Amino acid sequence: MDRLTGKVALITGAARGQGREMAELFMREGAKAVISADVLDAEDAESSPVTFVKMDVTQDTEWKSTIDAIVAEHGQIDILINNAAIVKYETILETSNELYDKVLDIDLKSIFLGMREVLPHMIEKKSGSIINVSSIWGLAGVPSSYAYQAAKGAILNVSKNVAATYGADGVRCNSLHPGYILSPMNADQAQDINDALIAGTVLGRPGQPIETAYAALFLASDESSYVTGTSLVVDGGYLAP
Ligand SMILES: NC(=O)c1ccc[n+]([C@@H]2O[C@H](COP(=O)([O-])OP(=O)(O)OC[C@H]3O[C@@H](n4cnc5c(N)ncnc54)[C@H](O)[C@@H]3O)[C@@H](O)[C@H]2O)c1
Repeated sequence: MDRLTGKVALITGAARGQGREMAELFMREGAKAVISADVLDAEDAESSPVTFVKMDVTQDTEWKSTIDAIVAEHGQIDILINNAAIVKYETILETSNELYDKVLDIDLKSIFLGMREVLPHMIEKKSGSIINVSSIWGLAGVPSSYAYQAAKGAILNVSKNVAATYGADGVRCNSLHPGYILSPMNADQAQDINDALIAGTVLGRPGQPIETAYAALFLASDESSYVTGTSLVVDGGYLAP
């Protein structure tokens, strides 16, 4: 119940799905404040201890105002989880310039904007944990989803870049790679795709959002104080064989 005592976290895309699960878990673990930044309104926001802010992660001005407001109110920002994303399934030959730009803006450029805005505050405090949510498709190929794979693969490297650049300043940065997790993102996914994903998963079932939330909790907390520049895979063993 006290793994994040006194910490302030910003989680993008936490109105629902895995980000929401992380936000609620972080509050249960004693965080001083958890702020969700999402384009969507959150359900049951009134009954939650999480602070929900409307924000588009592709807009640098919105990143600045959100982080300035957090630092003004709480005096610190200890944890940033870049979790917001969209998925598109088009192959390279089906991918228009517009689709490519849209996915890369939301899934990758947002991470650049967010880290660039939050890093000066973390460097000043000589402390911080950044977690960038990638995917198993950031580590292995799938015969679709060209733009999503472009973004998710790059997330691995930009996380290592920031880890290597700012480790001496006390900032840790890691990527998190979920496998097939039940969330609104894949609620409408075709049954044959779901069946194939489960069949390929060593544990023989999809994951629950709480299972990635606990992995994020480890990376966010001081328990992972010697962990940086790495990629944590939470996929029920999908990539194990
Ligand atoms: N569900 C899975 O099986 C799975 C597998 C691998 C990786 N992931 C990754 O996990 C993360 C969380 O996804 P999820 O499964 O909870 O899906 P989700 O669709 O429920 O959550 C994504 C959230 O991002 C928000 N978002 C989208 N565009 C935004 C924008 N421009 N600005 C702010 N917020 C925006 C959405 O509103 C949504 O709340 C994503 O990075 C996703 O790529 C999911």
